[in-house]
Amino acid sequence: MTNTALTSNAPDLETLKKWDRLHQIHPWAAIDSWRGYDNMFVDSADGIYFWDGAGKRYIDGPGGMWCSQIGYGRKEMADAISDQVIKLPFTSPFTNSTQPSAILSKKIADMAPGDLNNVFFTTGGSTAVDTALRTMQYFNNRRGLPEKKMIIAREKGYHGSTYLAHSVTGKERDKSHFDFATNLVQFLPDVNPYIRPDGMSIEDWCDAKVEDLREMIKQIGADKIGAFIAEPILSSGGVIVPAKGYQMRTWEICRENDILYISDEVVTGFGRLGHWFASEEVFEIIPDMITCAKGLTSGYLPLGACIISDRVLEIASQGDEPSAFTNGYTYSAHPVSCAAALKNIEIFENERILENVRNVSPHFQHRLKDLMKYDIVGDARGMGLLGCIECKAEDLEAERSLGSKIDEACEELGLLVRPLINMAVFSPPLIITIEQIDEMFDILEAAIIKVENNL
Ligand SMILES: Cc1ncc(COP(=O)(O)O)c(C=O)c1O
Repeated sequence: MTNTALTSNAPDLETLKKWDRLHQIHPWAAIDSWRGYDNMFVDSADGIYFWDGAGKRYIDGPGGMWCSQIGYGRKEMADAISDQVIKLPFTSPFTNSTQPSAILSKKIADMAPGDLNNVFFTTGGSTAVDTALRTMQYFNNRRGLPEKKMIIAREKGYHGSTYLAHSVTGKERDKSHFDFATNLVQFLPDVNPYIRPDGMSIEDWCDAKVEDLREMIKQIGADKIGAFIAEPILSSGGVIVPAKGYQMRTWEICRENDILYISDEVVTGFGRLGHWFASEEVFEIIPDMITCAKGLTSGYLPLGACIISDRVLEIASQGDEPSAFTNGYTYSAHPVSCAAALKNIEIFENERILENVRNVSPHFQHRLKDLMKYDIVGDARGMGLLGCIECKAEDLEAERSLGSKIDEACEELGLLVRPLINMAVFSPPLIITIEQIDEMFDILEAAIIKVENNL
């Protein structure tokens, strides 16, 4: 496919940049330098590549934002979306149902582990998390346990940007000057094995992290705790892979203490680790709720879901008084988004994309770990098609700038990564081949060498 810069009848790139600076507020905009800052203009995309407004090609290292699983430029996706728009673009999910949403709910129920058979569609990941947490509150109110609502979350966890999802997010830098609820949540300390004390084994670190949860439950009291929310891998926190066995042991503790386990699979769901969902297949847990979004439509249209177990829903449906599940959005189960999700799943199946992830991940992880040979790379970690390098330098200020320096050097060479302080994160489209993985890591290595030499 050839790509031409910007549609011919659009204003020129400089005008667009000016309008963008003057009128558009982007998520996480650096508000103090906002008017002076240009976001990259992305004009078109195909496969694992995209082109900027000036026609330069890049590998999409972050895969959109952990979401472009099937890659870009899918004509069959465009047709599925367009067919659904013509047939039925919208109907109210409060009173009506549609063919795509009914089929999709059945497919997701079949993919999800255990008795997670009930799908509540949302507009994205934050609203899926919000729904899961509100469901926990509703569940405990319905069973006459209104005191049992505290949420346990973790430092470095990211769960979204609604008030509730933001409140359970444990990334200090993300809290900035917005308000959030502090009385609803308690945070466990960082689980990142990279920060364990020198000489401590990974097994002892795992024991200590599990003990953190036990201790917190003891302190607060299980009768006051409603849920534990956890990403299987803390992605936006820097692709933190907890020590082996951590997920299973914390899940067992939650079950022993009648605490709902919410697995936030907004990133790990839909193929990132080679399975529809990672909770059971990779980490051997069957949560009470799973949240997902992003890869559900491969980013072609917005959609999220909160998948709830039969057990939770059955208990919530038995109460003294009649009750409605008053949670939802105008665009819950949007038929066009559901049609996109169905086409996405069909493409996954036809092209055996989950198998591709399982086949190419060892090479991806091998190239990633190999980056540890560079002095500035303190840690290289990941799983499946998720990866992160954490850089180190003599002084803290230099260290903090390393993520953006690597990003800049990569950008020059035609690779986009996601910088996070001293880290660079990547999660490319799941259709990536071994050769493209090499292309990506060759650029990354060249960028690391450049940054290291300039330090
Ligand atoms: C684990 C996790 N949960 C929730 C969210 C929020 O999703 P959204 O941005 O679609 O609202 C994200 C977004 O990156 C995420 O990584």
